[in-house]
Amino acid sequence: MAQLSAQIVSYDEEFKRHVSKLLRACGVPIGIVEGRSLEGAAPDLVVVDIRSDASSGMATIERVRAASGTVAIFAVAGAAEPDLILQAMRAGANEFFAWTGGEPSQATRSMEESFHGAVRRTSTRREAANAGAKPPCVTHAFLGAKGGAGTTTVAVNCGVELARLTKRSTIVVDMKSCLGEVALFLGVRPRFTVLDAIENLHRLDKDFLKELVAKHKSGLDILAGSEQFDRPGPQDAPAIEELMRVLTRTYDYVVIDAGNIVTSCVASTLFSADTIFLVTNPDVPSIRNAQRLVERVRQLGAGSERVKVLINRASEQHLIGPKQIETALGYGIHHTFSSDYRTVSTALNSGVPLTLSNNSEIASQFDNFTRQLVGLAQGGGGEAKTEPEKRRVFLGMF
Ligand SMILES: Nc1ncnc2c1ncn2[C@@H]1O[C@H](COP(=O)(O)OP(=O)(O)OP(=O)(O)O)[C@@H](O)[C@H]1O
Ligand SMILES: [Mg+2]
Repeated sequence: MAQLSAQIVSYDEEFKRHVSKLLRACGVPIGIVEGRSLEGAAPDLVVVDIRSDASSGMATIERVRAASGTVAIFAVAGAAEPDLILQAMRAGANEFFAWTGGEPSQATRSMEESFHGAVRRTSTRREAANAGAKPPCVTHAFLGAKGGAGTTTVAVNCGVELARLTKRSTIVVDMKSCLGEVALFLGVRPRFTVLDAIENLHRLDKDFLKELVAKHKSGLDILAGSEQFDRPGPQDAPAIEELMRVLTRTYDYVVIDAGNIVTSCVASTLFSADTIFLVTNPDVPSIRNAQRLVERVRQLGAGSERVKVLINRASEQHLIGPKQIETALGYGIHHTFSSDYRTVSTALNSGVPLTLSNNSEIASQFDNFTRQLVGLAQGGGGEAKTEPEKRRVFLGMF
């Protein structure tokens, strides 16, 4: 699904925060942009706050409409006054909402529901308008339930396979906080990192990106992880969101190694992801952490229906079976990778991805997994239910 880009025009920071949350809870991948896009394209949706100053609000709506005939404009007023609705529609707004202040009430709930419905309609209209054009970028984020769960292994091999199988432009981005290892796993020495990208946002376009990425022989581009311990930090989250927007407009596939901590920067990448793959091992600490992460994603409003569970390092000796894991997490297991330390660590130490280095069982599991992602799979391949369902108590622990 293509990422929808949205902009909120308001002087009220609290209002902006509230509307950002509303936008993100709509169930479609969304990126919130500050100001105009760097590539000169207007956002898909602009929310204009006309609560305190209706006449300047109307002028903003007119300006936005004059700049783009297709952008969806949502006017948010203090009350649903017929005159105001008429003025906003004449100025060019597509939707009108009466702000309820966010207090929990029936009025707030129905306002939020109609807001969500309007965003989803905007997304559907945009998809229909772009049908037949280049397929939209697909973003897969890999989030580890725990350090060492195998997030980088899965993300890197998926990235290589996507590039190799589809021959379409693919990038893997290392977002792990503190010294990620994506480039190392791929045996490349990057000259630049994510930090260089966000520090040069003002000139970040397709050509500049080309300079920043390292190339892997599979065709995969790599945007390496920061070498600094404290950056990207919370102050960089809006820049990461903008980076994601530029990436999704440049590439066909974006793969994110999100590490195993949902920092505000990682959250910025999750908002724009079509799928959030939760990589977990079949052991009690991993499953417990996986539960917490599912909850965190839900709280963030990043779309828990986009979460898919991957089991890595599965072996017959493990005491926790697939059914128990599904019960504990409330999600079906999307795919399972078996435990094969020798093969995985040999690939890692040589910097050659599994699928390029041997014909092992685990290499073919990655191949199948990626084929499924791009619709090249033969048969079902063990995909299970992905919709969240009610979680049940598991082993009395969670
Ligand atoms: N399926 C597997 N079978 C056996 N060992 C594996 C498997 N997947 C990963 N490993 C091993 O687990 C270790 C951690 O893998 P990896 O670095 O991919 O995990 P991670 O979740 O990214 O870790 P970190 O928290 O450090 O980022 C590596 O030594 C790797 O070889
Ligand atoms: Mg890692």
